[in-house]
Amino acid sequence: MSVLKNKKILLAVTAGIAAYKTPLLVRELVKKNADVRVIITPEALEFVTPLTLSTLSGKPVEWEFTKEKGQWNNHVEMGLWADLMIIAPLTARTLSAMADGYCDNLVMATYLSAKCPVFVAPAMDLDMYQHPSTQNNLQKLIENGNHVIPAASGELASGLIGQGRMEEPENIAQFIEEFFQKNQPLQGKKILVSAGPTYEPIDPVRFIGNHSSGKMGFEIAKKAEEMGAEVTLVAGPTSLSIDNQKITRIDVVSALEMKDAIDEKFDQQDVIIMAAAVADYRPKEVFDKKIKKKTDEMSIELVKNPDILKYLGTKKSDKFLVGFALETNNALEHAKGKLLSKNADMIVLNSLEDEGAGFGKETNKVTFVTRDQPAQSFPLKSKAEVAEDILNFIAQNLKKNA
Ligand code: CTP
Repeated sequence: MSVLKNKKILLAVTAGIAAYKTPLLVRELVKKNADVRVIITPEALEFVTPLTLSTLSGKPVEWEFTKEKGQWNNHVEMGLWADLMIIAPLTARTLSAMADGYCDNLVMATYLSAKCPVFVAPAMDLDMYQHPSTQNNLQKLIENGNHVIPAASGELASGLIGQGRMEEPENIAQFIEEFFQKNQPLQGKKILVSAGPTYEPIDPVRFIGNHSSGKMGFEIAKKAEEMGAEVTLVAGPTSLSIDNQKITRIDVVSALEMKDAIDEKFDQQDVIIMAAAVADYRPKEVFDKKIKKKTDEMSIELVKNPDILKYLGTKKSDKFLVGFALETNNALEHAKGKLLSKNADMIVLNSLEDEGAGFGKETNKVTFVTRDQPAQSFPLKSKAEVAEDILNFIAQNLKKNA
């Protein structure tokens, strides 16, 4: 899955011959599931048609400050909408306007309104490109925080050969993709997630377990990887599969196995998320042969399993430790108690008082409980969305503590 999925990209086309390649750029970005809007300078309409660009982007293309019937084309809204703006091709004229802040068309007004990262892909003849004014203007753009995708070398429209061609659309798309990759909220972070139930063996064919499906933990693992983290998933017995090769999956059965697997990986992690429903008790004795039904009654003596989260809390140092709590009454109070007793940084509280929350469901309704911030409650959401909320919250808090 590309990092460009659902990213809002505003392409501004200016009047150079390379504009004829911009439909390919739109197609590249759309193929990677980006949400693309196109604006264009009136002069660039000579080089590429709005119909082509709007067909490929699936959205109207704008070039005037007003629509028919005197309606304003809101450049401020467009500038603020974008996660990233790319001006391609960038002509010498628009380059100079950008360097000076000179605003005489929709592209420039939108550029000046944009708060997102702005990329430019210059395209001009080789002598124009090398001219000190051009190079000075490019330098000024960089100083102003813009990103320049240098022109490529090759045959130019003039017939001359040299540097000045707009970089190829697939390379521009790759530049943009790499930029988002580097700036992902959890880039470079190591995250371990536990998921699913644990099974505590009674004899070779029987166990004590619970109904946890593992969905919540699996969604967190998948989303954390998408947000740039290096993810280890320690999974109890579950039928779920994960098709992301970048996630390291360790399968375990019992609570003791889960503790050992997590302990072994603990030191390298930045964040540990205990989404597993660990069995609190296990049979004291595990029979090596199947127990026969000889008596009318039987009992199994249980001993307490280690509380993995609590154990990790005793040696957490600067790691960010997240636990889950499933509560039926006095939910907030109990969650706060668990936060402190287990020395965690955050408890994701599921209250069974809330409809749609809990085991086996596709949805969850959670509240984040931390030490220093007021409890934050979310509406009922899909588990994938809840995973994203949890990870965004963690990313913000890691940044604060950095
Ligand atoms: N947990 C753990 N090891 C255990 C039990 C739970 O690491 N042996 C973790 C779970 O993964 C979860 C959190 O602790 O993150 C849940 O805390 P817990 O006190 O077990 O909550 P409940 O299961 O709701 O327990 P209780 O019945 O005591 O309320």
